[in-house]
Amino acid sequence: MRSPIAPNGPTFSQLVYGTWRVLDDAATATPQNLLARLHKCVELGITTIDTAEIYGLYRVEEFVGQALKLEPSLRDKLEIVTKFGIYVPCEFHPDRKTAFYNATAERIVKSAEKSLRLMGIDHIDLLLVHRPDWLTSADETAAGLNKLLKDGKIRSAGVSNYNVHQFDLLNSRMDQPLVTNQVEFHLLHMDPIYDGVLDQCQQHKFKPMAWSPLAGGRLMDPANEAGQRLRKAAESLSAKYNGATLDQLAYAWIMAHPSQPLPVIGTNKIDRLEAAAKAATIKLEREDWYALWTAAKGHGIP
Ligand SMILES: NC(=O)c1ccc[n+]([C@@H]2O[C@H](COP(=O)([O-])OP(=O)(O)OC[C@H]3O[C@@H](n4cnc5c(N)ncnc54)[C@H](OP(=O)(O)O)[C@@H]3O)[C@@H](O)[C@H]2O)c1
Repeated sequence: MRSPIAPNGPTFSQLVYGTWRVLDDAATATPQNLLARLHKCVELGITTIDTAEIYGLYRVEEFVGQALKLEPSLRDKLEIVTKFGIYVPCEFHPDRKTAFYNATAERIVKSAEKSLRLMGIDHIDLLLVHRPDWLTSADETAAGLNKLLKDGKIRSAGVSNYNVHQFDLLNSRMDQPLVTNQVEFHLLHMDPIYDGVLDQCQQHKFKPMAWSPLAGGRLMDPANEAGQRLRKAAESLSAKYNGATLDQLAYAWIMAHPSQPLPVIGTNKIDRLEAAAKAATIKLEREDWYALWTAAKGHGIP
């Protein structure tokens, strides 16, 4: 199912395919293999792709570009989200000694232009500030984003890992409202429920994006204590939800929140993409959502 991420925002799929790990496994790190996964995503209705300047130590965007180059017409079937703003010591900058954030207007424009070039595309559907840059004013960051919007290089702008005050401040300086806040939200990390981030999404009527929906795989690790409790809970719910597995219930748990988060999934495996797509049809009942909350926490609600 596709829907606008915000009232005047781009239309995205309910699940988003994340590319953070696409270069991690030598066996799958070929443009042909990524192309096959992108095809599978489109077939499954997962048309929105998430990447970032820093992924793969500044190599993933180029890799995405190599996959798209194999079949240029695929680009028009996808919505591409990327992020800028994190700079760490790496082979491209051997003189850099300390990691830092930079969300100045000049940096934003340069980074977005680099993203366009590396991916071989003419616009970015959504550009996110990857993390708040504590040393840059909201006016300065907004100036860069507003310029890119005006020039048509990006279709919409948003943020990632912002708290509610940082979001409101930057939003107040934007010519076009920010369309999302991409945050860590899953059964092992529920902060956005308590810290106001998901309430703010409802208030402004935009949907959050939820990164690492399986806690980066920790949720599925048999050695993880909360994961063990969740596995048991999932086993007792499975029959009711058509044989659903823990990963599927974990995605459904995120999507059941009234702010309607878009899980950004990170598997490199086709069968796991198929399982994720099926999760989008699961509608968890209230008591079952709270049963998973309880299993994750190891205690009941206050
Ligand atoms: N905005 C931010 O600051 C931020 C931060 C982190 C991530 N992100 C975004 O979020 C995306 C997803 O993050 P993530 O990779 O940590 O997500 P995730 O979906 O929580 O974790 C994916 C990892 O879990 C493993 N896994 C183990 N069992 C699995 C199962 N049954 N189904 C699926 N995966 C399973 C996967 O391995 P296999 O490949 O072997 O399946 C993969 O290594 C990233 O690609 C990125 O786009 C954004």
